[in-house]
Amino acid sequence: MKEVRIETGQPYVVTVGEQLSAIGTGLRERHAPCAAMLVADDTVNALYGDAAAASLTEAGFSVSRFAFPHGEGSKNLSTLAALLDALAAARLTRTDVIVALGGGVTGDLTGFAAAVYLRGIPYVQVPTTLLAAVDSSVGGKTGVDLPAGKNLVGAFHQPLWVLCDLSLLHTLSDEAFAGGLAEMIKYGVIADEALFETLASGDRTALEKSIARCVELKGALVAQDERDTGCRQLLNLGHTLGHAVEQRSGYSIAHGQAVAIGMAYIARAGERAGLCAPRTAERIGRALTANGLPVECPYPVAELVPYLLADKKRKGDAITLVLPERIGACVLHAMPVDALPAFLAQGEGR
Ligand code: GLY
Repeated sequence: MKEVRIETGQPYVVTVGEQLSAIGTGLRERHAPCAAMLVADDTVNALYGDAAAASLTEAGFSVSRFAFPHGEGSKNLSTLAALLDALAAARLTRTDVIVALGGGVTGDLTGFAAAVYLRGIPYVQVPTTLLAAVDSSVGGKTGVDLPAGKNLVGAFHQPLWVLCDLSLLHTLSDEAFAGGLAEMIKYGVIADEALFETLASGDRTALEKSIARCVELKGALVAQDERDTGCRQLLNLGHTLGHAVEQRSGYSIAHGQAVAIGMAYIARAGERAGLCAPRTAERIGRALTANGLPVECPYPVAELVPYLLADKKRKGDAITLVLPERIGACVLHAMPVDALPAFLAQGEGR
């Protein structure tokens, strides 16, 4: 087990390798017993909901539950409204707690409900996907999608605690697990060549250590730039094209796989434009392929333009791209949005 402290305005701990059965006692160390709303999608609720509720109840929490249909399609304003109604019906107050048990959809939705219900109440993240464990459960970005795009409504709201039980990841499909590996490879490209090499080799024996390292790397960026106006944007490596691919596919291409395509493209485009060290793209491509991840986009970049232009990271007529100068060192690179499609199209073809 490893504890990583995240030094945000309201610091908190990510406990990597603790068991779900310890959620009740762990939460009681951080918050007096109170009413707790346990939120999960239908799949996770069936797998782990009872165990989490039992542990919380045993530790003295009075548990209500909210379950919703799984999938990105539920990350919207109507599920949010239903959750807020459930919180009000259960009469949760500002000193009560919400527990998000699930992947990124559950964490983002629940965190946003916690940010806005009564103008903010505490919440705990219990990631059940690798992607949520290394990314979305840490850092306090919460929100839901609009028909016009992903995560277009949201708030920064840091959790009270993050409990990451690695045994919950055993029920993930190979595709979902690979999606998490894409985000882990991303951390290696951004800031840690040794982590990158471990992941590129396909060595999974040190998974707990690698997950904790990813959380540490994210925590360091979030602590320096909680509101995402500076270095935290490095975490967007591969995400500009990635979000466009996800949307163009109607979300049939999952987030991690879309980010893998985005990283492959930005590295190839950057290298061809002389902005990245030689072989950076080849090494990233090999690491992704070795972990069962795609490096080619099924759509020409020209088809992604409407989604690229609607990217929420756009500021006026410019967008900040993340370029891998070399493995372990990325930079932010502002580019006029008009120039973006042609730049990314340089990433087409190996
Ligand atoms: N997922 C990127 C961030 O939290 O900033």
